[in-house]
Amino acid sequence: MLLRQNYTRVFMSIGLFTLIAEVLRRKKKRKKPKKKKDAISKSSSSTTLYLSHTASSTPLWEVDKSGFLPSRPPREAPSDDRFCVLSEIVEMVPTLAMMDDSSSFLDLIRRRESAFKAAVVALIEIREEDELECVHGLYSYLVCGLIKCGVSTIPEYVARGFKMCADRLNRRPMLDYAGCVLYNWALVDPQGPVSVENVRMLRRFTGLIDEEWFFKTHLVLEAAAGDAVMAMKEGLLQLESKNNYVFMIEVLRRIETSIGVVVRDCLPLMFERRGEHGALCDYYFFFHRLRPFMSGCKNVIFCGIDHDTPLTLPGPSGAMSTLLPCLDAFLGVKNSSSKLSKLLADFSKSMPISHRGFLRKISEQSLSIRTLIIQARKYRKSQDTDIVEALATQFERCIDLLLDFRWRHLQMVRKYIVEPSGGDASSVAGTGGTAALEYLHEHIADTEAAKLPSTGESWFLGGGVRRVNTVLISPKPKFTEPETTGEESDELWHVNAENGLLPRRQPVLPSHGFDHLESVVLRLPYLCVGRRLHAVVQSLQFSLEKIKQLNIDELEGLRVRLAFMAAAYQRCDSVACVNPDIPPGDTPLPLHFKEVYDFVADLLDRPKRLCFTDLVICNLRMSPSIYPAEKIQQNKKKANVDSLCPYASMNQDDDYAKEERCAVIPACSFLAVPEEVSLFSILFQTERSSPAIVAAILSSMNNPRKLTESLQSLRMTLRDAALRHDTETTHVARADKSTMRRLRHFLLPAGASDLELASMLYSGDSVLLPIVWRFLGIPKSKAATAELQRVRDALLHNRAVPTAHRNFLRRVSSIRDNVLRICTSTEPLHHLARLEAAYNGCVDELLRLCSRRSQLVCRYLPHFASEFRDIYFEHDRRALLSARLSLLLDRRLNQRRPSNEVRLSFSE
Ligand code: HEM
Repeated sequence: MLLRQNYTRVFMSIGLFTLIAEVLRRKKKRKKPKKKKDAISKSSSSTTLYLSHTASSTPLWEVDKSGFLPSRPPREAPSDDRFCVLSEIVEMVPTLAMMDDSSSFLDLIRRRESAFKAAVVALIEIREEDELECVHGLYSYLVCGLIKCGVSTIPEYVARGFKMCADRLNRRPMLDYAGCVLYNWALVDPQGPVSVENVRMLRRFTGLIDEEWFFKTHLVLEAAAGDAVMAMKEGLLQLESKNNYVFMIEVLRRIETSIGVVVRDCLPLMFERRGEHGALCDYYFFFHRLRPFMSGCKNVIFCGIDHDTPLTLPGPSGAMSTLLPCLDAFLGVKNSSSKLSKLLADFSKSMPISHRGFLRKISEQSLSIRTLIIQARKYRKSQDTDIVEALATQFERCIDLLLDFRWRHLQMVRKYIVEPSGGDASSVAGTGGTAALEYLHEHIADTEAAKLPSTGESWFLGGGVRRVNTVLISPKPKFTEPETTGEESDELWHVNAENGLLPRRQPVLPSHGFDHLESVVLRLPYLCVGRRLHAVVQSLQFSLEKIKQLNIDELEGLRVRLAFMAAAYQRCDSVACVNPDIPPGDTPLPLHFKEVYDFVADLLDRPKRLCFTDLVICNLRMSPSIYPAEKIQQNKKKANVDSLCPYASMNQDDDYAKEERCAVIPACSFLAVPEEVSLFSILFQTERSSPAIVAAILSSMNNPRKLTESLQSLRMTLRDAALRHDTETTHVARADKSTMRRLRHFLLPAGASDLELASMLYSGDSVLLPIVWRFLGIPKSKAATAELQRVRDALLHNRAVPTAHRNFLRRVSSIRDNVLRICTSTEPLHHLARLEAAYNGCVDELLRLCSRRSQLVCRYLPHFASEFRDIYFEHDRRALLSARLSLLLDRRLNQRRPSNEVRLSFSE
């Protein structure tokens, strides 16, 4: 008995001792984060200053009901004017990065060196976290743009500022998840929620909606997870008191509801499709156009930092979101591989410091909910059994949801990374530079392993080493004149054998007084998708007096820019397609802008909308074959702003650019992707044939031999024009389809049909094909659906075409009757044979060219391809086939005495 009492005392004192030791251990552990937090702020450079939360009493990254989103909407631009240089250049990043010309980019930065230095000084004075976050985001986009252009040494005045900013936030000098998602948005309606309809992203690398949508999906997902985060925060306090199972059931229920929305409603947003837009985040654009900006840096020297030691840092990744690591830690999902743990630890260095603290709190909790359940099952009292099992069931639902998230996510990685990269899963590197699939599969296996052991097995704490063979195949996913009477004074557009339909000089923007306009044009792709274009265009000031003094070259240069800006302004909302319930319509232009646009349009006698001439002919030039080098130089001197031309040397290393012969120099762009320039370039290539075509038409003579020669030369030119299309059809078909989906809203007014777009691609507002058509005298179809013929006929009165072009078209008369008349002449048979061959050769080559254009329509509008081919193009095809001549046969049949009279087909 005494022995029993002694044993009891010993066990009690051991129990008491263990309890005290446990309490002390926990206290120590709880203190640790505080210590670490201090250490972290100290570890920041000596520039680290106390950050007050003056903007609001709440710390920016406080973990609360907004989950891991900032406690107030991000600051859209730094409040200190000394950071303007950053904002200005970041807005040009899409345009500058597209040309992949590091020297132009660096030149631009070098010119603003003193402003960058002033920004570094301003950084030291920052007292608000919001300001620091905003500046960090700007530096990130600037540096990623530079790295994407191949810059491997960041200038000191940029590097120092970025590093200082990163140090003060205790993050790294690289774009991170917070920079592109968490702190990169603005509410459309400030009182509204964070939802796809109500948020726009702030900073961007391209003018693509795909980019917007990619980051927005992450953002909305974080917002939806807010209550799960709050539930974890509250549950964390209760985990201490082991017996509050009912409370923990409620915590898990809230996690399940919230993560259920994330998995079922938010993740599938990535695959969202909307009407003409198709996939809002197209995997082609994601992989080929956005991702190159997000690969972090490899051996990049940040001048003056760490003795110029090259830095290698990961780019932004969803793995830097604190959400999943917190859920893992809270529920008890362990990392089985030390490699994976190290990676996650590295990604966590890119989380806002409060998030890291929150994650650390959960991770250091001695008890995860999984352990709690296992323990409760082990030591259950009979009256708790039901409640513990209810808790276990709720837990399993949460683990299933986590697994669901990871499988669906894996599916996304396959679609957006593995497939576009060629399908070799083993060589795919993650956004953050990881061996992506290995990493993600590990994680799925670890989540599986966190399931509770069935109640039939022996209980063990921290067990769950029940590994599943992760299969590499994921389960099926659950997801536009008056008749000109006089002589042509419009010298710029004078049609002759030297320039054809191209302007004789490159239209330029006047060198003085319009710099502000050029600057907006450079930022157009940036501003198009975001919310700021309206404000920027509204703030533009023009002087009508100055415009009156411009010569025609300058007026055309001005018009191109105004037309691009107007199209972007009117339609950027439908491009951003934020609200599918709002019917598409063009936003009315601000009055003062409209006044200027209309004024310039009237001066040039052109319509008040973007035309083919603006889009292609005046927007591009092909160097140096069309415009000899010295002409370009002269033009550059004339317009110093031209030196700002962003596309002066497009990236010749880009496979796509090479394929598409993108040696074109566009002045304006909507999307800032090579695919867009490539489309303009294809259309421009045909116009380049216009000098030879015009030459052939003008040289058609009144004797059969000369006529034959002209036709032969026309035939060769048409052939060449058609072949140009051939060389440009070798790349990924998806690129064309996706490009048109993004561009069509800018190209035509709201509500335009597929047919209108198709006719634009087929012959545009260009008189080139109609000229040849008319010259060869191809019979016309009168069928109701001969829409393409009607478009050609309408060009005679279409003000979208320069007056000189229309006049030229009017003066071209058919050569066909002359050829037929020769047939009845005394011309020897072999002459007739050659003439017949030359004429029919032209018809054949015209058919070939029209066919190529119809293929172009099919490439860019695949959904309209069969309708266009079978209904509309068919009229042209038949008309051309029926136009072929059989002169020799006719001669034999006619047996008539010929007349020597040969009429002029074209009066010069
Ligand atoms: C097209 C869409 C997506 C792609 C291509 C993608 C790609 C990747 C890749 C390659 C990784 C491996 C780590 C790395 O190297 O970066 C990763 C990890 C991760 N991603 Fe995504 N991701 C996408 C969407 C999302 C979304 C919407 C979220 C939600 C926040 C997300 C959250 C995560 C998380 C939490 C990880 C860490 C692994 C895990 O916990 O399972 N990702 N992602």
